[in-house]
Amino acid sequence: MAIPVPSFTLNTGYAMPAIGIGCWMGHPGEGDHVVQMIKNALQLGYRHIDTAAMYGDEESVGRAIKESGIPRSEIFITTKLASIDHGKAASALDESLRKLGTNYVDLYLIHWPQAHSAEGKTLQPDEYPTYIDTWKDMETLFESGKVRSIGVSNFSIKTLTHLLSETRVVPAANQVELHPYLPEHKLLAFCRERGILLTAYAPIGRGTLSADETILSIAERHGVTATQVMLSWGVQRGTSVIPKTENPRRLKENFSIIKLTPEEMHTLNVLHHKPGCHHSACKFHSAAVGSFAFGWTYEQLGWDMSPGGIVIHIEEVAD
Ligand SMILES: NC(=O)c1ccc[n+]([C@@H]2O[C@H](COP(=O)([O-])OP(=O)(O)OC[C@H]3O[C@@H](n4cnc5c(N)ncnc54)[C@H](OP(=O)(O)O)[C@@H]3O)[C@@H](O)[C@H]2O)c1
Repeated sequence: MAIPVPSFTLNTGYAMPAIGIGCWMGHPGEGDHVVQMIKNALQLGYRHIDTAAMYGDEESVGRAIKESGIPRSEIFITTKLASIDHGKAASALDESLRKLGTNYVDLYLIHWPQAHSAEGKTLQPDEYPTYIDTWKDMETLFESGKVRSIGVSNFSIKTLTHLLSETRVVPAANQVELHPYLPEHKLLAFCRERGILLTAYAPIGRGTLSADETILSIAERHGVTATQVMLSWGVQRGTSVIPKTENPRRLKENFSIIKLTPEEMHTLNVLHHKPGCHHSACKFHSAAVGSFAFGWTYEQLGWDMSPGGIVIHIEEVAD
């Protein structure tokens, strides 16, 4: 039986609805399809939208919210600072606010720890602006009232530990890839102890986990889909989830979660131990890329490559 979608309270006291609609459409760009997706989601009850400057669709998100007629105050908006804008967070935020048609965002994230130069070259961890420099700018934005909460994305225990040791404000959230094949249990425990909410991106493994027999058997027991089981698991373990779909039927499906038994939660928690299961669903981990993601090595990112850590994804999945 479906249960109400809960909210999580961030360390700033603001509530984030546990299920949001993801706005990465597979390629950057504005469009009526984005507007329609958000309007459909809002009509179904979604009140949490996850976008980013790099997705290039903030104007469409803003247009959808305006056309929906739902008060801005009822909607939780996350957007993200692009790597190319580290070092100019204040003007980048103003540009995002202008596009979104709002005077504040609920959550502003550093999209990736790595900064890019104006020419698009990835800067090394010790080159200005480092993520510590960028986080200090985010702290200033937090005090400006234009952002209700600030956070990070694609941060590991290593990069978070460094950030926490050098700065004042504890991030409200860390958005990373999470699904039953990549549960990141250690990162979840680390963040929970420090009051940082984990948000799951690619929470259904970009649609690649739907045929998993273990997930399907739990789904059949409850009369739901594999996707609903994955999203229910994500919420029940205390992470917010932001699945993306343009399909109205799947939008409805993704907003309906169930209560799993402790045994089912355990089964899903250990599923990634099955041979061949533990891997990312995102192309930037692909074998062709090697142990780099967007110009930094896994060592620099602090991503665990040992058995039980992240393993290189074998298939090519469209990004
Ligand atoms: N911070 C970051 O670096 C980062 C990185 C990646 C993603 N994100 C965020 O996280 C969001 C979600 O991640 P994602 O879009 O990569 O992956 P995802 O939500 O795990 O999967 C999306 C894919 O699954 C399909 N799908 C959705 N619901 C389905 C269902 N009920 N049954 C079957 N297929 C379904 C979608 O196709 P249809 O549209 O055709 O249904 C789409 O191809 C993004 O949109 C973005 O907002 C953030």
